[in-house]
Amino acid sequence: MRIGILTGGGDCPGLNAAIRAVVKRGTSRHGHSIVGFRNGWRGFLDGDSIPLDREDVQGTLVEGGTLLGTARCHPDEEPGGLERVQEVVDAENLNAIICIGGDGTLEAAAKVGETGIPIVGIPKTIDNDVAGTDASIGFDTALMIATEAIDRLHSTAESHNRVMVVEVMGRHCGWIAVCAGIAGGADIILAPEEPFDIDKVAKAIRHRHRHNRGFSIVSVAEGAVPAKGTSWETGATKNAQGDPIAGQIGAQVNQAIEERTGFASRLTVLGYVQRGGTPTARDRLLATRMGAAAIDAVTEGVFQKFAALKGEKIRMVDLDKAAGKSNRVPQDILDVIKGL
Ligand code: F6P
Repeated sequence: MRIGILTGGGDCPGLNAAIRAVVKRGTSRHGHSIVGFRNGWRGFLDGDSIPLDREDVQGTLVEGGTLLGTARCHPDEEPGGLERVQEVVDAENLNAIICIGGDGTLEAAAKVGETGIPIVGIPKTIDNDVAGTDASIGFDTALMIATEAIDRLHSTAESHNRVMVVEVMGRHCGWIAVCAGIAGGADIILAPEEPFDIDKVAKAIRHRHRHNRGFSIVSVAEGAVPAKGTSWETGATKNAQGDPIAGQIGAQVNQAIEERTGFASRLTVLGYVQRGGTPTARDRLLATRMGAAAIDAVTEGVFQKFAALKGEKIRMVDLDKAAGKSNRVPQDILDVIKGL
């Protein structure tokens, strides 16, 4: 078989591990030819292909980013985009496509599958917000990076008796803010799943500082929002896609805390550091397992599905389970920090 592969959406550590697994297992075990497409669906629509063999993925297991490049582009949102996908499939003589991406990229993959093109997905995003899987490639590495940052912020916060506000990525779901906040011992965690009351945040910080803990750590997801009807509305604007703009909510929460507590507060925005560098062992393992499951599914003629982590097992799940839905942080995890 000739199988196309692409990586779409935001990059993350672990993408190369997934590509490597598809290429190595696909060529050696199944005798397939693998055709990479540069820069996500954009490159696919442009027919920007590159043959991939074992030597092309040597040494990439530990490399961050994606050797294919990526872009934010969805064929179903382009005039004639789905027809163009079929043209490229025909021109490249492809039997199937493997698409590695987040919710948007996988939603596009589902639309491509609905036209009859055999397709399989692999979920990746540091936000961990792809529905239908317990984890996505990239989250564990971002969690490690954000947790280490929070660990480091403790010493400077304590030295200066300051509040440290750290804004992390997570535009729709607060997996990084919540899990790194818990793992890093943050005192306050603000996530999109639970719109917050800034007055209660300030009260909790004042209470902490009154009882000899002269510093606080506040972990804020970029997608966190104030609860309706509370005393404070942010001026946080959105980008052209309607997504939060990095640094905005963090800066506003930081200022509001200073104004309401009188304590010095400083902001750290982790931004793209969370998406860089070598993947953790867990992400390498998850990506390799998902890549192997995806190429096995293609070989067995199982399509319109994506490789999902369910507990400790990899299962093939219908693509429409991921399409346009979000894997929000469950209440039992959100509740962990309350009362600590
Ligand atoms: O991939 C998810 C993500 O990292 C979000 O956490 C973040 O808001 C967004 O991508 C940034 O998008 P871009 O890389 O297009 O600026």
